Amino acid sequence: MIVIKDKKELLVAIDKLKRTGKKITLIPTMGNLHDGHKTLIEHAIKNTFKVASIYVNPLQFNDRDDYTNYPRSIGCDINSCKELNVDLVYAPEVDITTEIDIEDRVDLPKFSGYLCGSTRKNHFKGVYAIVKYLFSIIRPDYACFGKKDYQQLILIKYIASTYFQNLKIIEVDTVRINNIALSSRLSRLDEKTICDAQIIFKSLLKIREQLLKGDKFSEIKNSYIDEIEKLKFNVEYLEHRNNDTLEIAENHLSNSSIFIACNIKNVRLIDNIQI
Ligand code: PAJ
Repeated sequence: MIVIKDKKELLVAIDKLKRTGKKITLIPTMGNLHDGHKTLIEHAIKNTFKVASIYVNPLQFNDRDDYTNYPRSIGCDINSCKELNVDLVYAPEVDITTEIDIEDRVDLPKFSGYLCGSTRKNHFKGVYAIVKYLFSIIRPDYACFGKKDYQQLILIKYIASTYFQNLKIIEVDTVRINNIALSSRLSRLDEKTICDAQIIFKSLLKIREQLLKGDKFSEIKNSYIDEIEKLKFNVEYLEHRNNDTLEIAENHLSNSSIFIACNIKNVRLIDNIQI
């Protein structure tokens, strides 16, 4: 496995590889790799050259402290990549955002303003900028993204269909342990709080069951928020929306999901479930 920190070196390696005709699968991450990331790497297409990027992107953090405190574990991450037969890790040590031609007026799709986009100002603009940049320098044929970050996933599919028509996005199901969607930020929480966080996905399961039985989301939503908030989680949103447009689902169950974001002890956890 090659570990590259420098962009020029990366461009040379990618150029050389492209000349052999070998296809590339890219797995972009911000590191502190857990089983969710590992599953993503395992979904890379067989016989392609696997590139994992590890970079905590300052552009997508709306809170400076969250960026500074974001868990970093590059040594362990490199070992995990080796064990998973990644061929190349791109882990820049410097601020690479200075190389990005940031478009001041990016026309993000309307859905980017909902859910996480309504409270995390500039978050999706930052994700858009870094992912488009990584796609342009690594030139992958496939790229893996998780459904846990569903809104991000559909933004990435938008980037691919707009600018990289030959790129295929591989969508990977959310990995949960004990009903908790794995997240790098979980490592900032104590065991009791992690255990309490099970209520997030358990609520989604119960809501789905109730909706399928005919209950109305607007009539049951607040009781779930109350139950979750009793455990000191602050519910940022709990919404039933369409999978493609992220517009409010208005009781249409087909092609819809329930989305949730909660905050606890300055850690933000998200999850979703398809109806
Ligand atoms: P990060 O949070 O490190 O996640 C990297 C990838 O792993 C994303 O595609 C995310 O959806 C996926 N992932 C995270 N937790 C998962 C889980 N429990 N199950 C399945 N997949 C999971 O998402 C980012 O980084 C950044 O925004 C990035 C795309 C790298 C751009 O900076």
